[in-house]
Amino acid sequence: MTLPGGRSLLPASLVVLAAAIFFVDTVTNLEIAVAVFYVAIVLVAVRYLDQRRVVVVASACMALTLLSFILTRAGSFPAGMVNCAISLAAIGVTAYLALRTAAAEAAARQAQAQLAHITRVTVLGELTASIAHELNQPLAAIVINGNAALRWLGAKPANPDEAAQAAERIVRDANRATDLIKRLRALTKRGPGKAVWLDVNQIIADTLTLVRSEVARNHVSLAIDLADELPPVQVDPVQIQQVILNLVVNAIEAVSAQPAPSRAVEISTSVVPAGQVIVTVSDSGGGLGGAEQDRLFDAFYTTKPDGMGMGLAISRSIVESHGGRIWAGAAGGRGAAFSFSLPAGKAAIHEPGIARKAPVRK
Ligand SMILES: Nc1ncnc2c1ncn2[C@@H]1O[C@H](COP(=O)(O)OP(=O)(O)O)[C@@H](O)[C@H]1O
Ligand SMILES: [Mg+2]
Repeated sequence: MTLPGGRSLLPASLVVLAAAIFFVDTVTNLEIAVAVFYVAIVLVAVRYLDQRRVVVVASACMALTLLSFILTRAGSFPAGMVNCAISLAAIGVTAYLALRTAAAEAAARQAQAQLAHITRVTVLGELTASIAHELNQPLAAIVINGNAALRWLGAKPANPDEAAQAAERIVRDANRATDLIKRLRALTKRGPGKAVWLDVNQIIADTLTLVRSEVARNHVSLAIDLADELPPVQVDPVQIQQVILNLVVNAIEAVSAQPAPSRAVEISTSVVPAGQVIVTVSDSGGGLGGAEQDRLFDAFYTTKPDGMGMGLAISRSIVESHGGRIWAGAAGGRGAAFSFSLPAGKAAIHEPGIARKAPVRK
């Protein structure tokens, strides 16, 4: 847990607060149990400090409570003793319960991350054939260009210019294959990712390299309509790729029941004035009529014979953990449209390398 911008201020403010409570507790009568307010310090400490430091803070609060009790002269001694015991118990019990809650939350977060990892790997498993094909293309091209380079070099007279061009193509294709493997490795990696400022359009472009072959294999026409100059969003790119991947794979599955010429999927991005970037994946499939709409995002809800029902549930938890929202509706005409929003930053990121409003492709 981090305290944005105020980490260094925290110990100082806790000390000031503790000193204030100690002062008031010492100057007031023994009958007044001011020391219970140390509970507030413990609760703040649990939110921002690690377990060991919380124990130190709680112990310090208990020591101050005892010291106040010893130093306070005014008031009834038995009442003071009872108040002191109540305050000590309140501080101790609060620290114990708050630490247990924090540990349970951490365990839940870890389980969630593991589940996200498993479902990510599962989706990639479903795409294995397409990804292998995607990888095979540059490899096959490398072999062709390698042979061509050998022929140009072996010709009499040798043609080094042509051979150099073939070598350049080899390098380009090898880079393409390496890129794809890097992307796959990022998606299969376990553990927490890092949030960085990014252009959602770029994340979509990256994700599409993984599903391009799947789209082609299922004879789906994919339209991409990316808004110009999107403001950046602060996201973990692997997680957002996972959401896009889930939605696109669902859309491909939804249109696969349709005859080939009418299988259409569209990915679009837009910005709303409220300062959010919206990503929408719509399809020309059978729509949401066959599903219970209020259960779509529930874990293990699926209408597919071999479905796992985790795609949308994980997508929702990812989007919500980024401060966004995800929802489903009907696509214009027929089919389903799934959208999610992400809170946007201020300035637009300019990414000249991204294809915008790419033509419909098969
Ligand atoms: N594009 C879509 N069109 C129609 N129904 C959909 C679409 N995407 C998801 N659904 C419905 O939501 C359910 C849950 O989806 P998901 O969580 O990805 O699990 P799974 O794909 O394993 O079934 C699907 O079984 C399906 O009924
Ligand atoms: Mg799914």
